Amino acid sequence: MTDLSKLVSSVEGSATLAITALVKKLKAEGKDVLSFSAGEPDFPTPKFIKEAAIQAINDNFTKYTANAGTPDLIAAIIAKFKNDNNLEYGSAEILVSSGAKQSIYNVLMAICNPGDEVIYQSPYWVSYPEMVKLVQGKSVVIDAGPESGYKITPAQLKAAITPKSKVFIFNSPSNPSGAAYTPEEIQALCAVLAETDIITISDEIYEKITFDGGQHYSPAQYPGLRDKTVVINGLSKAYSMTGWRVGYAAGPKYIIDVAANLQSHSTSNACSVSQKAATAALTGPTTDLEMMATKFQERRDLIIKGLSEIEGIKCPVPGGAFYAFFDVSLYYGKSFNNVSIKSSADMCTYLLAEENIGLVPGDAFGNDNCVRMSFACSDKNILEGLKRLKSGLEKLT
Ligand SMILES: Cc1ncc(COP(=O)(O)O)c(C=O)c1O
Repeated sequence: MTDLSKLVSSVEGSATLAITALVKKLKAEGKDVLSFSAGEPDFPTPKFIKEAAIQAINDNFTKYTANAGTPDLIAAIIAKFKNDNNLEYGSAEILVSSGAKQSIYNVLMAICNPGDEVIYQSPYWVSYPEMVKLVQGKSVVIDAGPESGYKITPAQLKAAITPKSKVFIFNSPSNPSGAAYTPEEIQALCAVLAETDIITISDEIYEKITFDGGQHYSPAQYPGLRDKTVVINGLSKAYSMTGWRVGYAAGPKYIIDVAANLQSHSTSNACSVSQKAATAALTGPTTDLEMMATKFQERRDLIIKGLSEIEGIKCPVPGGAFYAFFDVSLYYGKSFNNVSIKSSADMCTYLLAEENIGLVPGDAFGNDNCVRMSFACSDKNILEGLKRLKSGLEKLT
């Protein structure tokens, strides 16, 4: 065995993928496990999108495309930004990649030098810290707990900024917490950023899944920030297209150029067939999208009601996405059948073994007091899951 890259070896595997794989394995062994770990909608990809892909295959649209994306997809993305966000981009300012995950990685690689500070909040999406490690940056994490609805304040952001601050990663609505900042809250953070040279990477992958009429606002819309912001979005969540792997970045040409060069030597273009499907998605009817968002809001209501009936759980109401992220630390220090619970990992292991429910430890998202429960599943499973969660917690003494 040779010694491996120290840098890459230091990267942790994704906790969400690990739990999802374990749940799948237990199910295959015949256990009645309910999974609440998945980070993807449970709906099928809408029919008209699948038909566009089938058409692309039949038309032999199966070769390499332009590295940065097909002209028709780039045009659809530009129109999306204009219509949804009132943002104007030229085609040289868009880079289509194999999922928003790759978009974020490309952009971080393009911007960061070793030692550059990358600011983001906890709870955070699992991949941010590992990506920052890979670009040899330094994570500066601002903590936000349930009492603030998992939102940071402008004062906290200001206090985290140093001369080495290079990037601020912002994600609203958020995975794992579902926190959706209001336009006013985002503008207040933008006012701090506007005074600096920091590049904001705004991860807006859950833009279309917002509840209670909540308005989306991109930091790129804030006066003076358009050219200091890279907006990340993609098709995975809104269109239930996780497996198709299409995401995109929009930002200043000098950043997009370098990110595109990197992509040209790593994965090249996103899948040609998926790009045709993505074009259909962005230019087609929005009925499926609206149906899914409505359904997620109903499930959000169901899960919040159920959680409020369990002693000691603290869960702010998610304003978007499809996750409930709640504090279970009141149960730490308790035990059942000689299994004692001291951490979110202990809690999830116990609930999986004892109650057959798969939740993700909050530790993976930077908050060990919490666990994440996805509500991208049927009402029936949510109700049964809540019952099992209550039963598992009540056994702990
Ligand atoms: C906050 C956030 N950003 C980015 C992504 C990546 O999405 P994809 O690579 O499927 O486009 C995810 C997926 O879980 C996410 O939750």
